[in-house]
Amino acid sequence: MSLLITGGAGFIGSHVVRLFVQKYPDYHIINLDALTYAGNLENLKDIEQRPNYTFVKGSITDPLLLDRLFTQHDIKGVIHLAAESHVDRSIKDPMAFIDTNIKGTAALLNACKAHWKSFEGRRFYQISTDEVFGALGPTGCFTEESPYAPNSPYSASKASADHLVRAYGETYGLPYVISNCSNNYGPNHFPEKLIPLCIHNILEGKDLPIYGNGLYTRDWLFVKDHAVAIDLVFHQGKNHETYNIGGFNEWKNIDLVKLLCQQMDQKLGNAPGTSEQLITYVKDRPGHDRRYAIDASKINKELGWKPSVTFEEGLQQTIDWYFDNEEWLKHVTTGAYQHYYENMYADR
Ligand code: NAD
Ligand code: DAU
Repeated sequence: MSLLITGGAGFIGSHVVRLFVQKYPDYHIINLDALTYAGNLENLKDIEQRPNYTFVKGSITDPLLLDRLFTQHDIKGVIHLAAESHVDRSIKDPMAFIDTNIKGTAALLNACKAHWKSFEGRRFYQISTDEVFGALGPTGCFTEESPYAPNSPYSASKASADHLVRAYGETYGLPYVISNCSNNYGPNHFPEKLIPLCIHNILEGKDLPIYGNGLYTRDWLFVKDHAVAIDLVFHQGKNHETYNIGGFNEWKNIDLVKLLCQQMDQKLGNAPGTSEQLITYVKDRPGHDRRYAIDASKINKELGWKPSVTFEEGLQQTIDWYFDNEEWLKHVTTGAYQHYYENMYADR
């Protein structure tokens, strides 16, 4: 069967594409990606020659391209990851998020509606985020019943997209599933996000910027465990249902960065405490959500999924990957990245 994966050249998408191409030789995997700053075909070098894999450069906001793809291939399923994904960028430029995350999702849904004459055996899978639920207080977790209360332009655009998916399900009967996942980390993570940014900055001897008081809390999941969960939800999840995915792994940002500093010092052969000296408190992110935590018991009970690595193991694997892939890091941190990074705090 042909399966369309959008955003497959990005961080999570590349792990999902690799898993599906390798695990399902009978599936034809079509990876549609616009190759924005976050998309990188180097992420998929090891599988690009596989006979069951096709890469298409293009935008999900292009209805003619979608029409052509759905006409050329009998696409049975869509796993939709393509998005503008960085909260700080959404604060600076919300419109790109509205275009890709909302209008792009609508264009994909329209293509499914137009081309899937029967919905039998078809499925649209929306990859979403826990950020749609807003912020938690000091206790409790997001469940599948938590109300949507997004606080950033990014999370509002993802929430809008999720609502559109649900609406196409209710109105037209489109078979869909949605999963809402917590913070991912691991190989191929673009170094604008906290963990790879800190790895890169330690290697460069640059400051490690901690927003506000550093007590903001996130629930971290190794990206390969997310890819496994996506495989399970796509194949075994129930239509018109949502699944929360998380690491059962809450960390305050400052504690996480200190752990990362320790592991980096060991790897670099530095005296303990060396990297921590780079920690610098900077002005807070506007609208910064205090705490996220996921109750992932539904996917655990119904589909038997749980994370496979501890945070310490996953972080070590991540650090090792960045040390083994210096060229990758060099490629993604030259050019436009410099401009972005230098201007990050300019108007805060
Ligand atoms: P990413 O920014 O690393 O990758 C996004 C990919 O989408 C890139 O390859 C980019 O080129 C592509 N893309 C962007 N605009 C496009 C367009 N108009 N048409 C086609 N392709 C386009 O993002 P990520 O961190 O891998 O996140 C993937 C998905 O998972 C997103 O939908 C995100 O909301 C969701 N998610 C991410 C996390 C996380 O912690 N990173 C957690 C939960 C959910
Ligand atoms: O929760 C899932 C979400 O996780 C995904 O939907 C998003 O696509 C993904 O980017 C991520 O969002 P966050 O905003 O939580 O991730 P980020 O790595 O940007 O920030 C993590 C925390 O660290 C957050 O509290 C902000 C803080 N932070 C971030 C950066 C980049 C810092 O203190 N300093 C930094 O330099």
